[in-house]
Amino acid sequence: MSSTSKTIVLTGVSRGCGRALTEEFIRLGHVVIGCGRSEKDIAALQKEFVVPNLFSVVDVVDDAQVEAWAKKILASHGTLDFLLNNAALINRAAPLWEVPAREFSDVIDVNLKGTVNVIRHFAPAMVQRGRGVIVNFSSGWGRSTDPEFAPYCATKWAIEGLTQALAQELPAGMAAVPLNPGIINTDMLRSCFGGSASGYPSADEWAKIAAPYILKIGPAENGRPLSVPGHG
Ligand SMILES: NC(=O)c1ccc[n+]([C@@H]2O[C@H](COP(=O)([O-])OP(=O)(O)OC[C@H]3O[C@@H](n4cnc5c(N)ncnc54)[C@H](OP(=O)(O)O)[C@@H]3O)[C@@H](O)[C@H]2O)c1
Repeated sequence: MSSTSKTIVLTGVSRGCGRALTEEFIRLGHVVIGCGRSEKDIAALQKEFVVPNLFSVVDVVDDAQVEAWAKKILASHGTLDFLLNNAALINRAAPLWEVPAREFSDVIDVNLKGTVNVIRHFAPAMVQRGRGVIVNFSSGWGRSTDPEFAPYCATKWAIEGLTQALAQELPAGMAAVPLNPGIINTDMLRSCFGGSASGYPSADEWAKIAAPYILKIGPAENGRPLSVPGHG
């Protein structure tokens, strides 16, 4: 492994943007520590990408699972350079008053509390070292809104504010940024755009631009809302 190789913790690696980023980061010579809930997908990733890349079944909603995962990773890999909170859910399209309580809670639990669980257990080692970049995946719907996606919009607007406050807490050598990835043809997009999702770039095409863009984020960008270029 070269001295420029970065250690990257990435949530939601089993599908979509997280899966494509995993492949691209590893192709570029970096180490990916990933999680997702699907046992089958996580086992397949570990078979394809060998150690030191490490893939674990972790539900980011479960704080105890995240704590155990972070302890294991910090013991085996030392510290990390990038912490990417990508895992998220979107609600089924519906006016807010028709969104069942359980579904609303699930979107808040994964997108917001899950992100904070991951920060709670990985950030202290980064802060202690005074280095590292935290990227919290936002959305166009974290900076604008559309009808029928109020729960998802609420979480992504929250991610923007939470991340900017976090940025103000970090030591000078670190950064935290909200990142709008753009519009990418993934399961999530298909669930809300239907057939018109196919008019957008695939996750693999997107990752070729997004991975190098993320790797360039540093302390100069701390607190700045960023967007992957060319994918808005
Ligand atoms: N696609 C777009 O156009 C678009 C636009 C704006 C923003 N975004 C944001 O970009 C990020 C990636 O989106 P995507 O389109 O790639 O979504 P996706 O295709 O639905 O994939 C979501 C990933 O998150 C994982 N995940 C969900 N809940 C989890 C949990 N509780 N614990 C651990 N992992 C969990 C899923 O894996 P498991 O089901 O195996 O857990 C999956 O790997 C999200 O933050 C999304 O909000 C996407």
